[in-house]
Amino acid sequence: TESIRELLLSRIRDVADYPKPGVVFKDITPLLADPVAFTALTDTLAELCVRHGATKIVGLEARGFILAAPVAVRSGIGFVPVRKAGKLPGATLSQTYELEYGSAEIEIHAEDLDADDRVMVIDDVLATGGTAEASLDLIRRAGARVAGVAVLMELGFLAGRARLEPGLAGAPLEALITV
Ligand code: PRP
Ligand code: MG
Repeated sequence: TESIRELLLSRIRDVADYPKPGVVFKDITPLLADPVAFTALTDTLAELCVRHGATKIVGLEARGFILAAPVAVRSGIGFVPVRKAGKLPGATLSQTYELEYGSAEIEIHAEDLDADDRVMVIDDVLATGGTAEASLDLIRRAGARVAGVAVLMELGFLAGRARLEPGLAGAPLEALITV
């Protein structure tokens, strides 16, 4: 509802010139520190996971973990971490993606997903969409289906939604707030 959006938006702090001059960083730590807002966020995302028929929740390291883990517990759905390269001990699938400068690599334990799974990806922010797009590749390569992507905040001016569309293949992209 509109009031939940307003509550969430009111707990996101704009930090000017971070991490570099000219960039306005969207800081979610005030939201996390407010139990009413954090609970409202968790409940809203959990509802979306259930509504879209998710059987697994993938959280994207690091800020995505903070949101996705309580959602998994709240909705009674298993949690699978997508981690930055080199952190997972077992047999992994890995995917590189482009950043503004250079590239990054993320990994998943392939055995944590199977062909029956419908996976909801949760992260804090959709910016260029590179991280989420790479996670969808990992999920498909692990043999599972994509139930959707849910983020707290979409940075509309970076056009991540358009970038993600082919990878979503009709699955929903849910953004609670668009700025
Ligand atoms: C940030 C954010 C998203 C991603 C969005 O993560 O948490 O995961 O960038 O950007 P994109 O849509 O352009 O890929 P980041 O890797 O910077 O750091 P984190 O480990 O703090 O989550
Ligand atoms: Mg992140």
